[in-house]
Amino acid sequence: MGDSDTESFASFEEPLDPTLQNVLDQNGLKWIFVGGKGGVGKTTTSCCLSILLSKVREKVLLISTDPAHNLSDAFQQKFSGEPQQVNGFENLFAMEVDASAKSVGGGAPGGGEPGLGEGLDFLNDMASSIPGIDEAMSFGEVMKEVEQMDYSVVVFDTAPTGHTLRLLSLPQVFDKALEKFAGANGLFGSLLGPLSMLGGGGPGGEDGFFSKIEDLRRMVHRVKEQFSDPELTTFVCVCIPEFLSLYETERLIQDLAEYDIDSHNIVVNQVLSSEGCCHETCLLHARVKMQQKYISQYEDLYEDFHLVKTPLLAEEVRGIDKLRSFSENLTKPYEP
Ligand SMILES: Nc1ncnc2c1ncn2[C@@H]1O[C@H](COP(=O)(O)OP(=O)(O)OP(=O)(O)O)[C@@H](O)[C@H]1O
Ligand SMILES: [Mg+2]
Repeated sequence: MGDSDTESFASFEEPLDPTLQNVLDQNGLKWIFVGGKGGVGKTTTSCCLSILLSKVREKVLLISTDPAHNLSDAFQQKFSGEPQQVNGFENLFAMEVDASAKSVGGGAPGGGEPGLGEGLDFLNDMASSIPGIDEAMSFGEVMKEVEQMDYSVVVFDTAPTGHTLRLLSLPQVFDKALEKFAGANGLFGSLLGPLSMLGGGGPGGEDGFFSKIEDLRRMVHRVKEQFSDPELTTFVCVCIPEFLSLYETERLIQDLAEYDIDSHNIVVNQVLSSEGCCHETCLLHARVKMQQKYISQYEDLYEDFHLVKTPLLAEEVRGIDKLRSFSENLTKPYEP
């Protein structure tokens, strides 16, 4: 072999370890998002990853941000908006949050009344006319609550891609909204004076409103800072070996880069084994061949990712025992 051959040979890098062990080893990780297209295995993966994390980290919280929650279904245990210990685990907790439940005005404690004084409804209307701001605020509030708790790591089982990306783009949404409010504050400041006397003065009035927005802005920025720090945050993409999923994964990875969110793991779920394939014309053979085509495309496109293949089982992965056993697929390489 000549020198140039040796060089080109040496330039071939070993593929990255095809498991999620790197996530378990990264002790400082605080926020782990698990996301992808609908139905590919996000909930299964996030439950299994949380189970594995509970063995190496002190206290783990699994949060579903999908309005169609399915943590309860996967663990076969009813969860709510407050963290609850998962049966059979000392240090694993789960909760299902509704990231679109609260309104912009905030409302007075105890509900019912609007957060802004009467006569300032138009500000409320203005706020709610900004797409995503409701979710920004309620997600922000959840983050604030979670930050005050003593979890060493938080795993998010997210909604299908579009919804999740909207959630992750919220800091930008918030900045834009605040620019508008800052403008409005200057512009309407003098007008609001007399209006707030109609009942909107004090904490519910103009000042209360703008300082609340400012508080939230600070908090959203703190969250963004954490989310764009790869030492603290990573996004695990889940997909299946099919065209639409490959396409959506690529879009997701590009968007994550744009939002400055680290991502270096892809779980390719529901991979078939050709074992038991009887004939070249059988359905299994055709599906295996199709999957292999897309798996090679994932391998070509994502050389710098940990590409974790997990098998399609004959049965759904529901209940603690099945989740525990499936979680082993995330730490040992699977070659169909
Ligand atoms: N590898 C697998 N083998 C067998 N069944 C699986 C596998 N992965 C997931 N499932 C089953 O497929 C269904 C969908 O999986 P899961 O709920 O994890 O997907 P999801 O991406 O969270 O879906 P959604 O977008 O609806 O939230 C579940 O019933 C789950 O048990
Ligand atoms: Mg799910």
